[in-house]
Amino acid sequence: MSLVFRRAIVVGASSGIGAEIARQLDADGCAVALLGRREDELNKVAAAITSSGRGSAIVKKHDVTHTDTVPALLDELVKQLGGLDLLVYASGIMFTPGEGEYDFAQDRAQIEVNLIGGMAWTNPVCAMFEAQRSGTIVGISSIAGERGRRTFPGYSTSKAAFTTWLEGLRNKASRYGVNVVTVKPGFVDTPMTTAIERKPMVIPASKAAELILSAAKGGGSPSVFVPGQWWLVAMILRHIPSFLFRKLSI
Ligand SMILES: NC(=O)c1ccc[n+]([C@@H]2O[C@H](COP(=O)([O-])OP(=O)(O)OC[C@H]3O[C@@H](n4cnc5c(N)ncnc54)[C@H](OP(=O)(O)O)[C@@H]3O)[C@@H](O)[C@H]2O)c1
Repeated sequence: MSLVFRRAIVVGASSGIGAEIARQLDADGCAVALLGRREDELNKVAAAITSSGRGSAIVKKHDVTHTDTVPALLDELVKQLGGLDLLVYASGIMFTPGEGEYDFAQDRAQIEVNLIGGMAWTNPVCAMFEAQRSGTIVGISSIAGERGRRTFPGYSTSKAAFTTWLEGLRNKASRYGVNVVTVKPGFVDTPMTTAIERKPMVIPASKAAELILSAAKGGGSPSVFVPGQWWLVAMILRHIPSFLFRKLSI
């Protein structure tokens, strides 16, 4: 099976993986709506799309923590696009506390952006896709959600919860023709990871976007590691006993 996407919303399209996904969707002939808080960055992605000569992108300044604005914005975008085949939820923030540092505000913010914002978008989109008996939802989670990590307890919690949320949606809606895709990247070279020194098996955002779209087009509601080698790492991580895992520096 190879799904064809014609109308897409990318939440978190102003940089990194989301921006690359938007560019590659445009290259495939898909009309795209770009969402995020930094309008200037969204405009740069839209300008690249326009200059490609293939199409134009809709730009909407949007903060995913303003969840009450989602239903009306979704309606507006679906009207402008003339329908919807694909939602990509790529918005995310990561806080890595230092040794001895504890910060509830940062942990809360990660849950609000990485999980609650994702629930606010995927709920109405899933209802729409279930009613139309088709559509693809791509949620960018992370391999970080496989275990509670001492380097970022709040981030790993938000990603574990988002992974579980997407699995629940898949179990609820895939029988109605909705393709729910969970994406668990390893290290991707984006603004989010600029400050991280050691990034084993890092890939460029363009490669990540290519792998993500290929998994989404395949249908069948997959849960994928990006790139696939992280599956083995995840298997190993999951089987390290807790008393040993806490001694590791990851
Ligand atoms: N890079 C990696 O190694 C890696 C690995 C695993 C998973 N991921 C996940 O991949 C996704 C994309 O991250 P990235 O690596 O591409 O980093 P990025 O370049 O920092 O992109 C993050 C995106 O999230 C958006 N965002 C953040 N807060 C938002 C808010 N309140 N409202 C709306 N949008 C918001 C940003 O847009 P604005 O700032 O314009 O709002 C931006 O478009 C994230 O979910 C991240 O957790 C990344």
